[in-house]
Amino acid sequence: MTHDSLQGRRALVTGGAQGLGAGMAQALAKAGAAVMIGDLQEAAGRDAAGVIRAAGGTARFVRMDVTQEADWESAVGATIAELGGFDILINNAGIEITALVTEVEAESLRRMFDVNVVGTLLGMKHALRAMRPGGAAGQGGAIVNIASVAATIAFPAIAGYSATKSAVDRATRVAAMEAGKLGYGVRVNCVYPGLVPTEMGMRLAADVVAAGLFPSVEAAVAGIVGDTPLGRLGEVADMADAVVFLCSDAARFITGIGLPVDGGMGM
Ligand SMILES: NC(=O)c1ccc[n+]([C@@H]2O[C@H](COP(=O)([O-])OP(=O)(O)OC[C@H]3O[C@@H](n4cnc5c(N)ncnc54)[C@H](O)[C@@H]3O)[C@@H](O)[C@H]2O)c1
Repeated sequence: MTHDSLQGRRALVTGGAQGLGAGMAQALAKAGAAVMIGDLQEAAGRDAAGVIRAAGGTARFVRMDVTQEADWESAVGATIAELGGFDILINNAGIEITALVTEVEAESLRRMFDVNVVGTLLGMKHALRAMRPGGAAGQGGAIVNIASVAATIAFPAIAGYSATKSAVDRATRVAAMEAGKLGYGVRVNCVYPGLVPTEMGMRLAADVVAAGLFPSVEAAVAGIVGDTPLGRLGEVADMADAVVFLCSDAARFITGIGLPVDGGMGM
């Protein structure tokens, strides 16, 4: 993407304190957007915003728990008040709790559904209300939900997580349909990242070893790379560039899709 493809846009990135979200926030800022990082983690979130400012971008931080409706109201309000509008939402905050189906626990499943599904849907709700004509921002925009390759393939020990990401995938389509039909001027898409060695990604690799599925983390990573036609793990920048594209005018006629960014793992 060109360095100014998002010039003048105002973006809220949830889970932007670290990992994929921090990289997406940096890439959006590099493309010209002003960015609000929303996360539970205050110190890391403020640091992530500071990294963007040090590189010449515009970034702020708001503490938020995506499962809490009041936090969405204040995060959207802060984005509009501090950045001057709200054009882009990246629904990236998510958690993964690994378990074989024989070992799943109701509390872990409920927690994953709360963050990954309820959090994403509340985000779409408040973004659409703010971005649609007559809303507090009112200029239309783009929403990108971060699903997972886990919504497209069967990978062992993540049945609950995969179910949440499949739900995000379906909810994306419905939101895109409503936003289009009701003339909100908002495109809604999702991406399916492959495995990226963030904190979450590396914990999953260790967990599948502990579950007895692979002899070592190296073997688990090699197995995933072996299932990936492009022959490597994903990188944060791979995901961030795809998100910038979906937010940009280059994707102006794209809504309701799930874009695999997985080196072909899910084909
Ligand atoms: N890393 C991967 O391999 C991978 C692959 C596919 C999809 N994903 C998805 O990408 C997204 C980011 O993953 P990551 O690897 O960067 O994870 P990560 O664990 O490194 O970072 C997640 C961030 O979300 C924040 N967060 C968690 N719960 C929150 C809540 N309730 N409210 C606000 N913030 C919250 C955390 O504080 C953290 O900063 C997730 O939705 C994840 O499911 C990751």
